[in-house]
Amino acid sequence: SSDHQKETQTMEHVVVDGSEVVVKDPQSLRHKISSIRLAGPEKLQVIADFDATLTKYWIDGRRGQSSHGLLRQGSPEYDEKRQKLYEYYHPLEFDPTIPLDQKAKLMEEWWGKSHALLVEGGLTYDAIKKSVTNSTIAFREGVVELFKFLEEKDVPVLVFSAGLADIIEEVFRQKLHRSFKNVRVVSNQMIFDQNGQLVSFKGKTIHVLNKNEHALDMAALVHDRIDNVNGLNEDNSFVKKRTNVLLLGDHIGDLGMSDGLNYETRISVGFLNDNVENSLESYQKAFDVVYLNDTSMQGVVKLASQLC
Ligand code: TMP
Repeated sequence: SSDHQKETQTMEHVVVDGSEVVVKDPQSLRHKISSIRLAGPEKLQVIADFDATLTKYWIDGRRGQSSHGLLRQGSPEYDEKRQKLYEYYHPLEFDPTIPLDQKAKLMEEWWGKSHALLVEGGLTYDAIKKSVTNSTIAFREGVVELFKFLEEKDVPVLVFSAGLADIIEEVFRQKLHRSFKNVRVVSNQMIFDQNGQLVSFKGKTIHVLNKNEHALDMAALVHDRIDNVNGLNEDNSFVKKRTNVLLLGDHIGDLGMSDGLNYETRISVGFLNDNVENSLESYQKAFDVVYLNDTSMQGVVKLASQLC
C-alpha cells in the first residue's frame, strides 16, 4: 500500500557504530532535537529506568541480574521464599489477559510480600554490599560518559525504578567507582536501624504498574533534593521548569515515568533487548529511537550532545 511505502521511505533503520538503531520518524526526531537544543540545558532533564536500561541485559552469555534478583539476604530459606514469589508473580506481570487494575493489585501484593520477607529475614546492609560484589550486573558502555556529560551541563538525571534504591545506589558505588552530583535514584528505600538491620521501607511502594503515579512525588523529591542540596535554584519550580525530557527505558510502560511532568518536548529512547521480532513494531511506534540487541549507551551519548 502507499501507506506502507511511505513508512519504509521515511523510516531509518541503520547501523551506527555497530549498534542497530530504528527511528520510525526521523523528521519528528530532528524537530524535537532542535527544539530541545534551542531551549537550552537548563530546560532539560533525563529520566532513566535502571534494570536492563542503564544495565546490560546479557553479561558473558548470562542474563544480567536486577536489583531484586542479585540480592542474597544471608538466609537461604528467605532467598528461596522470595524466589517462590518470583516464580508465581513474574508470569502474572507479563500475562496480557489480566486486566490492569487487577494486575496492579497483584503487583502490590508481590512487592508487599517480598519487602516483608526482607524485613522478617533480617536483611543487613552488609548483605547488600556482599550481594552487589558477587552479582552479575554491569552498566552499558557509555553510561559513565553520559552521566559525566550531563553533570558538566548541570542536567539532572532521575533513575526511576520499581527495584530497591539501596541496592541500586550500592551498584553505583561499586561498579561506577564514583558518584555524580546530578544523578538521583528514585526507588523503594529501606530504613535500617543502628545495627544496620532492615526495619522497614520508606513511603509508598513503587511497583512496575505505578511508576507513573509516582512521577509527581518523584518530581517533588528531586525538586527538594536538587534545590536544597545543590542550590541550583532558589524558587520552587525547579522540575517544572525542566520541561524537556530525554527518557530512557526498556519497556513501553517506562514511558509513564514522565506522566507527572507537564513536558513540552520529550525524546524517548527504548532498549529492545530481547524478542526483537515480536516487539519491534510496538517499540518503534512507542519510542522515538529504538536500540536493538542490548547495545551500548554510545548512541545516547551522541544524542545528548546534540541536545545541549
Ligand atoms: P523495574 O526494574 O523495571 O522497575 O522492575 C522491577 C522488576 O523487579 C520487575 O520486573 C519485577 C522484579 N521483582 C523481582 O525480581 N523480585 C521481587 O521480589 C519483586 C518485588 C520484583
